[in-house]
Order: sequence, then structure tokens, then C-alpha cells
Amino acid sequence: MIPSVLPTYSRAPMSFVKGEGSWLIEADGRRFLDLGAGIAVNALGHAHPALVAALTDQANALWHVSNLYQIPQQQKLADLLVEHTFADTVFFTNSGTESCELAVKMARKYWYDKGAPERVEIITFEGSFHGRSSAGIAAAGSEKMTKGFGPLLGGFKHLAWNDHEALTAAISDQTAAIMIEPVQGEGGIRPLPDQCLKGLRDLCDEHGILLILDEVQCGVGRTGKLFAHEWAGIEPDIMMVAKGIGGGFPLGAVLATENAASGMTAGTHGSTYGGNPLGCTVGCAVLDTVADPEFLADVSRRAGALRQSLEGLIAEHPDVFESVRGTGLMLGVKCKASNIDIVNAGYDQQVITVPAADNVIRLLPALNITEADIAEATKRLSAAASKIEQTV
Ligand SMILES: Cc1ncc(COP(=O)(O)O)c(C=O)c1O
Repeated sequence: MIPSVLPTYSRAPMSFVKGEGSWLIEADGRRFLDLGAGIAVNALGHAHPALVAALTDQANALWHVSNLYQIPQQQKLADLLVEHTFADTVFFTNSGTESCELAVKMARKYWYDKGAPERVEIITFEGSFHGRSSAGIAAAGSEKMTKGFGPLLGGFKHLAWNDHEALTAAISDQTAAIMIEPVQGEGGIRPLPDQCLKGLRDLCDEHGILLILDEVQCGVGRTGKLFAHEWAGIEPDIMMVAKGIGGGFPLGAVLATENAASGMTAGTHGSTYGGNPLGCTVGCAVLDTVADPEFLADVSRRAGALRQSLEGLIAEHPDVFESVRGTGLMLGVKCKASNIDIVNAGYDQQVITVPAADNVIRLLPALNITEADIAEATKRLSAAASKIEQTV
């Protein structure tokens, strides 16, 4: 008999009733050190007092109001995002997938309105992940995600990661945009070198096409800058955001320049919940902390400490782990043993990591994880690795 929850997930057996900072707690009091943060969602950890206060104050005042009316909390968050980024304008969604949908629509409408309706093609890359909607799976294009769900939304051209010649050859008079994650998340924590991101920007400028960055996983302070592309000193035309921006409340956004957004006039897009007072109030509280340069410098310091601990862990367990990669607090450990076995062995030691493609375990902890928790996490991962060694 089919379970009452559609069985699309394979779930670990833990069930948490409470969260505190970087810790998740089960009903019997067992405490797990959370290095996954809901897959890069709980940017400030669990139950951060400023976020709890913002959410409860707003919940006591007003939950939902339609986008038919003014929403001051939405206006405030849009103003903050415009102040802190390349963007001139923001549309709020509830998830990364919805942000992908709008990014695709926005790029196509841009060209339609410019009198080039044939420019519909969006270039994407192998190993990418942009969500599970029809546009999201067509954009990523992997068989794993698309098999059985055809006919797929057309107009995506999938290229190998890091093949500059193929990229130049793929651009045609039907190209609307290039869409890419500055750091691939699901694809196994693969950062695009700054030089490549700069090269992509130049290529887009040369051909007059749009650059869409998917910062759903790598954005909102995760790499030690507010958004990852800032390290390369470039700006996109359109950017997809979600996850960390809501700190655990479902919230996403598409940020764009005035030029890229020029086709999105009244009636061209909408959302019932996107930009609701609860989500935007929490989003403002997240940004108040994360956009502070001192907080971002701390993220880089913590990232340095975690990376150093992981290097030590790899040296201690060379048969289990191979290398560390990634940037900021978006780190991946390439494994020699099975990454799934290591994640499961971690659960036995009450430490949570997240598997990714290419036999990698991902560490995406809260951006305010303490040094003590980093040290404790390393101890627990080492104990998990020792157990794996005993079975090899
Ligand atoms: C880079 C990237 N884009 C898009 C998505 C989809 O976001 P959501 O699951 O919020 O719809 C994800 C989710 O993992 C992601 O990592």
C-alpha cells in the first residue's frame, strides 16, 4: 500500500522535535550536530532569537495579504536587496524552483520584447541543479531527473562543465542566456573558478546575452561574501535566490537589473504567497545579520577553521576520505569509501552531513557555527570514519 506521504524521499530514521543553533534534538533528548542546516537553509542556525522574534511579532500582527495590495515588509526586503547587490528590482517566490521558473521566463520575455523572439535558448551545464519543476529539470537535463517526465520543456542546451570551446561554439543567434551555479551544490560542491565566471561575463557581454546566476545554495553569505559572484568581481543580469534568505522560512527571490527585467510588466508574472509578510519579515532579519561585513568576515574565519579541521581528518583517515573542496562554509569532502556509508556512520555518531554527486559529502553548516562545534564535528566525523575503517 502506498504510504500516506508520497514516497519520493528516502529518509533517515531520525525525527527532530527541537533545534538550537547548530544542534537538532530528538524527542528522547539525543542531540545531533547539524552540518547540513536543512541543505544550506538555516543560515543562522535553528531558533535564532532575532528570527524567532521577527516571525512571532509578525505572526501576531498579520500573516498573509495578497499581492493585490501593498506589502511594506516586501518593499523593505526588496530595498535591502537592491541596496546590497547589483540588482535594481526583485520578485519574491517561495522556493529556488520558482525562482528558476521566473529566471527562464524573464530571459525569454526580454528577447521577445526586444524584437528577437527566436532567442529562447538557455545554455546550462552538466552536473547542475535548478529545481524539480518542468523548467528546472529541463534546465539541468540529467537523465536521473528527467526520465519518464517528457515531453520536456524545450530550449535548453547542456554543455560540459569547464569546456570553454564548446561554450563559445554553442552560442548562436537563438541564445537568450547562460545559466550557471557559481558553486555547484547537488553536483558535488564544484566551485567555478573566478576566472571562468569573469570569462562568462565577458562572453555574455560580447554576444549581448544575459547571464543568469543560480545562487540558491551558494548565496546569502555562504561563501563569505553576501553572494558568491562577488568574489569574481562581476555582476549577473538575473540571479536566483532561496534557501538561506528565509533562514528556514520558505522564501525565494529573483533579482535583476532594470534592463533584464524590462519585459516583466504588470500581469506577466505573479504568486499567491511569494513576498508574504511573514517570509519577508524573516528575510529582513536574516539580511540585517548576514549582510554585515563583520559577520561575513567571521564566516570566512569559521570556514578557514572548518577547512583546516577537514584537512586533518583526511590525513588521519586516508582510506575513507580523499580531498576537500569548495569555498566558505560550502565544503565538500570527496570520499574513497561510499559517501552514503559515511553519512550513515555520521548519524550513528550524531553528526549530520549531506551526500552529493561524485561521491562527496557536503558540509553546509549554519553560518554562525561556533569553533567549539567545529571541533566537536571533526571528532564525530573522525569516529564515523574509524567505524568505516573497521568494516573495510
Ligand atoms: C542551486 C539550486 N537551485 C535550485 C534549487 C531548488 O530549490 P528549491 O528546492 O527551494 O525549490 C536548489 C535546491 O537544492 C539548488 O541547490
